[in-house]
Amino acid sequence: MSMVSTYCPHFSGLRRSSPNLHNAPSQSFLQHFGSQLRLPSSPKPCRAVIAMSGSGKFFVGGNWKCNGTKDSITKLVSDLNSAKLESDVGILQPLFFNPYVVVAPPFVYLDQVTSSLTDRIEVSAQNSWIGKGGAFTGEISVEQLKDIGCKWVILGHSERRHVIGEDDQFIGKKAAFALNEGLGVIACIGELLEEREAGKTFDVCFQQLKAFADVVPSWDNIVIAYEPVWAIGTGKVATPQQAQEVHVAVRDWLKKNVSEEVASKTRIIYGGSVNGSNCGELAKEEDIDGFLVGGASLKGPEFATIVNSVTTKKVAA
Ligand code: PGA
Repeated sequence: MSMVSTYCPHFSGLRRSSPNLHNAPSQSFLQHFGSQLRLPSSPKPCRAVIAMSGSGKFFVGGNWKCNGTKDSITKLVSDLNSAKLESDVGILQPLFFNPYVVVAPPFVYLDQVTSSLTDRIEVSAQNSWIGKGGAFTGEISVEQLKDIGCKWVILGHSERRHVIGEDDQFIGKKAAFALNEGLGVIACIGELLEEREAGKTFDVCFQQLKAFADVVPSWDNIVIAYEPVWAIGTGKVATPQQAQEVHVAVRDWLKKNVSEEVASKTRIIYGGSVNGSNCGELAKEEDIDGFLVGGASLKGPEFATIVNSVTTKKVAA
C-alpha cells in the first residue's frame, strides 16, 4: 500500500494505535490497515508516522465551565456547527488529522447542546456523581448523563479540587464509576503555583495519577489532562517545554506503574490558557496529544483554530 510513502505525514507524538470504545469511522480503517502501516526502519527516509497516541486522534475538549445562557449557547453551537474542523478533507487526511472533539456545557444546557450540535463533536459533562443516582441533592448521576447522550465527563478539574474541595480518592472513585458505566473520562491533574515553586510538580501529578490508577477498571477510555493550576484562566500559559516535560514524566509514570501499552496509547492533553495564538507551538511538542480549553472554547472560531492546530504535528519528511 503506497499510502505512507506518498502522503508521508508525521505526528511527532507517535504511538501505536489501539482500539478505543469511542471509535470514529477512521479508526476501523486504521485497525484494518494497521498491519500494513509501518514506520520505515531505515534511519531517515520519509519520517512517515501512522498514528499518535490513543486512538490515533488528537483530542481537544472545550470546557465551558459555568458560562453561557440559552442565547449565547445557541450562538456558540451554531458557530461550531459551521466551523471547518480538520476532518473529511481529502482521501487520506481523515486518517491522520481527524481530531477528536468534545465540548462540556453546563449541566442545564447539556440537553440543548446534545440535540443541536453536529455529531462531529461529542458532549461531555463537567462532573458526575460518585455512584448510582438517588437521594443526593444537587448531584447528577452517570445514568442521567448517558440518558441525554453524554459520552464523556471531566473529573478532577482543579476548580473542583481547590474550590469545591474534592480530594484525590473521591475523584478516583468518581472516575471508576463513570468508566464502569461506559463514559469516557477526561482525568485532570496539575500542580498549584506554590507546589511548582517548591519543586513538587511531579510529586503532585503522580499522586493525583495514582488515585486514578488505584481504582480505574481500565485506561481505554481515559484522556489525561495536565492542567497546571497557575495557568488556568490566568492567561499565563505553560511554555511548550514546561508542558512537554510534565507530559513525558506522566507517560513515564504510566509506563512504570501501569504498563508500557497504557503509557503509549493514553492521550495526555494540556490545559491552561490555551488559545488560538499559542496552540500551534504547544501542539508541536511530541507528548502533547491535544488540549483542554476553557475561556477560548467559548468562541467558536477560536476553538476551531485550536482543534485544527493538529496540523502542526505534521513535519516535513
Ligand atoms: P482556560 O481553562 O483555558 O480558561 O485556562 C482551562 C481549563 O480549566 O480546563
